[in-house]
Amino acid sequence: MSSKYIASFLALAGTAFSQTPPNFSPEAQTYFPVTYDTAETNPTFFANGGLYDKNAVQSTPSVFVPDTPAMTGQTFIILMVDPDAPSPQNNSLGQILHWLQPGVKVPINTQKVMAPDNATTYLKLDTTSTGAIAPYRGPAPPSIDPHRYIFMLFLQPSQNFQLPTGFEQYQGGNERRLFNADQFVQAAGLSGPIAGNFFLAGMSTEGNGSEKMAGFDGSPGSNGTMSSSAIGPDGTLMPTSNGTATGTSNGNGTAPAFPKPTQTKNDASSLRNSMSSLVAAAVFVYLFI
Ligand SMILES: *[C@@H]1O[C@H](CO)[C@@H](O)[C@H](O)[C@H]1NC(C)=O
Ligand SMILES: *[C@@H]1O[C@H](CO)[C@@H](O)[C@H](O)[C@H]1NC(C)=O
Ligand SMILES: *[C@@H]1O[C@H](CO)[C@@H](O)[C@H](O)[C@H]1NC(C)=O
Ligand SMILES: *[C@@H]1O[C@H](CO)[C@@H](O)[C@H](O)[C@H]1NC(C)=O
Ligand SMILES: *[C@@H]1O[C@H](CO)[C@@H](O)[C@H](O)[C@H]1NC(C)=O
Ligand SMILES: *[C@@H]1O[C@H](CO)[C@@H](O)[C@H](O)[C@H]1NC(C)=O
Repeated sequence: MSSKYIASFLALAGTAFSQTPPNFSPEAQTYFPVTYDTAETNPTFFANGGLYDKNAVQSTPSVFVPDTPAMTGQTFIILMVDPDAPSPQNNSLGQILHWLQPGVKVPINTQKVMAPDNATTYLKLDTTSTGAIAPYRGPAPPSIDPHRYIFMLFLQPSQNFQLPTGFEQYQGGNERRLFNADQFVQAAGLSGPIAGNFFLAGMSTEGNGSEKMAGFDGSPGSNGTMSSSAIGPDGTLMPTSNGTATGTSNGNGTAPAFPKPTQTKNDASSLRNSMSSLVAAAVFVYLFI
């Protein structure tokens, strides 16, 4: 059943190539439709690898699957990680777990939206009826160089999903550091991700996800090379319009001064969603990653 289902999902996606960044494991070969656009009918999906202003990605995104009979009745697990914390050049805190939610389904009468090809439709997954293990937390990268925020969608093997041994500390989403997606997949007995994608965001990047960062190939530690004209007076990095690179970056990946660990708006909403939120508020240390 599930291999037939995976085959139909892949067939639908056409030619398979990696949707997760180069050299990131686990690898997904099928595009995962995710959007921060709240439009009901034709939301804009970010380009895979697209560059964002971090403020544009603080709310839980909407996630979709292709509109096929094979999707209904399935239960999915959503996983999102940042392997580039605190910076692409020093990932000693990565991966940061940004979102882990099992029990996600295609609800009856779900919202259908037009895919960017204007030919097929996507079905919106329900991420609100069941609790997350780690509720969505938006990016707050401390480095100038952008981090990669990677989404993965898995088939959930049984109705009741339990965190595997060795991952208990992530329950509730208070601990987020040093997650390992590969080990998680193995420990939880999951097959590889059936879909994936990623976007980029740095401390002061601008963008709405529609454009990739110049010179950035998505490899670990790759910081992109920006033309000096792409860097605003305030050090803001802008995407260039044609995706080519010139010049060098002023961002060397060194996190400047670490911002004070204060609670951001987004963290507050994550906290509210978390069962043990009140107790946990005091132990948030790395809120900014
Ligand atoms: C890497 O980041 C960690 C966590 O912020 C920090 O403690 C460590 O000093 C950094 N290492 C280097 C080589 O900058
Ligand atoms: C889909 O429709 C939109 C809005 O009409 C248009 O901007 C876009 O270019 C179309 N995309 C394709 C692939 O035809
Ligand atoms: C995103 O930004 C690009 C480049 O600035 C712009 O052309 C496009 O209209 C924007 N899209 C949305 C949905 O705002
Ligand atoms: C892309 O932009 C770069 C830098 O602005 C420029 O040198 C190059 O000619 C452009 N390429 C295309 C195909 O427009
Ligand atoms: C990295 O950039 C910061 C801020 O511009 C600067 O203070 C630091 O000296 C740079 N480090 C290196 C190794 O170039
Ligand atoms: C950014 O990456 C480029 C290409 O890997 C590298 O040459 C450059 O030194 C990096 N920039 C800094 C400031 O580390």
